[in-house]
Amino acid sequence: MTHYTFPDHFLWGAAASATQTEGTVPGDGKGENIWDYWFKEKPHLFYQQIGPGKASDFYQQYETDITLMKTLNFNSFRTSLSWSRLLPNGKTLNQEAVTFYNNMINEMIKQGIEPIINLFHFDMPMYLQDNGGWENPDIIEAFRYYAQTAFQLFGDRVKRWTTFNEPIVPVEMGYLNTYHYPAVIDMKRAVTVAYHSMLSSAKAIEAFKLEKIGGEIGIILNLTPSYPRSDDKEDQQGAYLADLFYNRSFLDPSVLGYYPGDLLTLLDTYHLLPERITGDTTLLKANTVDFLGVNYYQPRRIKQSEAPIDDKNITPESFFSYYQDPNRRMNPYRGWEIYERGLYDIAMRIKADYQNIPWYVSENGMGVSDEERFMDKDGVIQDDYRIDFYQEHLKWLHLAIEEGANCFGFHAWTFIDNWSWLNAYKNRYGFYRLDLDTQERTVKKSGQWFSQVAQSNGFSH
Ligand code: NOJ
Repeated sequence: MTHYTFPDHFLWGAAASATQTEGTVPGDGKGENIWDYWFKEKPHLFYQQIGPGKASDFYQQYETDITLMKTLNFNSFRTSLSWSRLLPNGKTLNQEAVTFYNNMINEMIKQGIEPIINLFHFDMPMYLQDNGGWENPDIIEAFRYYAQTAFQLFGDRVKRWTTFNEPIVPVEMGYLNTYHYPAVIDMKRAVTVAYHSMLSSAKAIEAFKLEKIGGEIGIILNLTPSYPRSDDKEDQQGAYLADLFYNRSFLDPSVLGYYPGDLLTLLDTYHLLPERITGDTTLLKANTVDFLGVNYYQPRRIKQSEAPIDDKNITPESFFSYYQDPNRRMNPYRGWEIYERGLYDIAMRIKADYQNIPWYVSENGMGVSDEERFMDKDGVIQDDYRIDFYQEHLKWLHLAIEEGANCFGFHAWTFIDNWSWLNAYKNRYGFYRLDLDTQERTVKKSGQWFSQVAQSNGFSH
């Protein structure tokens, strides 16, 4: 039996987002975002036709939930602000939203839970999307204004902020696949979206510094280590390019303050560079992050590209292909690969190539479909698989920290089963089970386990 103890003041908790938990209540003054709009237009795209209105009702139940978080011994919790709740049409503040977020933040602090507040988690206000969303350069000023508003309202109490959660996801899912609105496949537009969101992040960091409210600001990236199939040069090159597109396109400018030269050259070769914005390199260089949040779920397994490059239809996958490693282990209840060592590899990479910047695990978790099947006669989900999942990831994280990784916390995804975009409630991730009909919350076995880990700052296994 080994005891794994984590550093002093380690953050233990979970992450969530506004749209996935808050729900909407008539009269709350919230404006429409892309998810509200898309669900209204095309409900059949959503699993069981459940839309964002049917969330875990955090908007009304935040006090209950924060108390339940305390019973799991969380010392921190990350969620996002809903841009369209706070600024339903641009400049006018929704006072109901200000009251809600003030109450939420105050309640967390009262209960000894540090609020980590993220500004953007996939939920573009519809009035901005109608003008092109991240494609339109005007978004940079709109985001700066929103960020500044948030800092002024809540910055006296919130000491850790993040600009974006997984900014590559709206690019990858909304402009290279059809899982997020506007669901188009267009590499040129995708690159523009990525570029403008990166500049918006830097602009928000600049605004944060100008406010002089103290605290730190970071960005949350989903880092997916790319492992080549073999030592062959072509496979290695494929993995290098997958990493360049999916990790480094945000990691390098956020931490180092500039884009990788290879990425710019490649995009230039295929005429994919967006129209440059004056002062962009200075803005990026001057506004790197104080810390990183890393969401880790699974790696990418890469081999050389199979098809010849079609200049007219470039996507990142024009440069590499995925392959099925026969030795990989899959989550049998959701289909994603489980590779715990990936977290260690990320940690070592941050140490070697990214100045060992302070970072924390901002998401890690295991989704399970039809999780009712694991419910015992007392109504408790016996999710030993999830305990095992966390434990094995934490062991690799512990090793990385012993070897000098600058990691200051671990947040699970997530506290309570929540609504997950087109998948709605298909895959459950929570420490608490949510009964969608009654809104009843029941702790799962993994929640009880996590409360022990958080309390003792580690575990024995
Ligand atoms: C990452 C995202 O941040 C979150 O919104 C999503 O629900 C989880 N992963 C699970 O897929």
